[in-house]
Amino acid sequence: MTTTENVGSEIDPAAFNPFDGDTLQCPFPHYETMREQAPVVHIEALDMYLVTRYDLVLEVVRDIETYSSEFGGASMPIPAENRARMEEVQAEGWPRVPTMLTADRPGHTRYRRLISKAFTPKVIEELEPVIRSITTRLIDAFIDDDSIEFVEQFGVPLPVEVIAHALNVPDSRLADFKRWSDDSIAGIGTNIGLEERLEAERGVNEFQHYFAEQLELRRTEPQDDLLTNLLNARVDHDDPDIDDDRPLDMAEMLSMVQQLLVAGNETTTKLLTEMVRLLAENPEQWRELRSDPSRASLIVEEGLRLSTPTQGMFRIATKDHELDGVAIPKGARLVVVFASANRDEELFADPDAFDPDRDHLRDHLAFGKGIHFCLGAALSRLEGRVALEELSRRLDTIELTESNEFRYFPSFLLRGLTRLDVDITAADR
Ligand code: HEM
Repeated sequence: MTTTENVGSEIDPAAFNPFDGDTLQCPFPHYETMREQAPVVHIEALDMYLVTRYDLVLEVVRDIETYSSEFGGASMPIPAENRARMEEVQAEGWPRVPTMLTADRPGHTRYRRLISKAFTPKVIEELEPVIRSITTRLIDAFIDDDSIEFVEQFGVPLPVEVIAHALNVPDSRLADFKRWSDDSIAGIGTNIGLEERLEAERGVNEFQHYFAEQLELRRTEPQDDLLTNLLNARVDHDDPDIDDDRPLDMAEMLSMVQQLLVAGNETTTKLLTEMVRLLAENPEQWRELRSDPSRASLIVEEGLRLSTPTQGMFRIATKDHELDGVAIPKGARLVVVFASANRDEELFADPDAFDPDRDHLRDHLAFGKGIHFCLGAALSRLEGRVALEELSRRLDTIELTESNEFRYFPSFLLRGLTRLDVDITAADR
């Protein structure tokens, strides 16, 4: 939504239930109340501390001594009584090694150094023509229709096909690749049942077996691709910031590939969808974009701020301390709520409004900040820009179909529309 009704005083920040249906639909009034009344608040039901103000979110992500990223996976913790069953299923794959997102220094530095040899700015730059050709093909498929379901016809396939291309996945395995991506995020910020979690974990095993085979293949038959680069990535032996100069082992490589998939697919889908919704709701912005495609980058930034597909991420307190006067015990789990920081009225004037020309446009925290700053930021910005350039070039009008219900996926960490129906008219060719 572009505007939120202020129901501030009716909300008890400590009783906030992120899984409540209405809250999932629109958490922003709750965040506003929290920023105002309790920017660091202990949520009883989750036993987690939510951090909602911009300055405090920044303080937490920058203070890597006090706030660890070793939260063991972004999925919701599994209750103790069910852990054995989960471990049994996981034993059929490679160990789930915490890399990048869930690692602290110095291990994190080693992972970032190694992936930076494989996922280089050049690799991303070279994806631009691929992104443009996938985008054009997707648009061609619906250009003569009166209406489209944007999520399925564009939002999902674009990032999946781009990252699949980067990982050299053949078209014949695209459907599996998408399923593995869904399985990898099944537990993130949701409260789905155990059986569903186990089924998803089996999908992750399948993903691991596929990529392990592909990586093994490249030991003897190297290719000019990201997987081969990952296999061959080495760190400098005398790098003072790392204490371990081993190349990546198989479990580590699989964890890293999985993160590219998880972090790259869903988030970008959600960004693309929300941007189209915002443009359809703000036709003057759509018209300006059509007449001046260089505005695409501004719209991507404002789309990132308002949609913040990764609404928040976990941190673990490494010691007893206070944050904004609230006592946080060692071992406590915090959620840095990027989505709330991105609507902090102290920094962003009229924060719920869609204004690609606003002050502080690029200060949003949709990609986080500090050592865990999103590895794929440049790629998703590129996908967003190319998508907007091509959509606005090929389509004359976009309007939201009356029947839209604007339902969001039931996750409080990954926020995105389940579907978006859009009436379209093609531009003159
Ligand atoms: C709109 C799209 C995206 C959004 C909103 C997003 C958001 C984020 C955020 C907020 C973080 C920081 C998490 C933290 O501080 O704990 C992050 C980290 C990360 N992202 Fe993204 N991301 C996006 C796209 C991508 C893409 C396309 C890729 C890869 C192809 C990617 C890969 C990663 C990885 C590997 C990390 C972990 C980095 C680390 O911990 O060092 N992301 N992302």
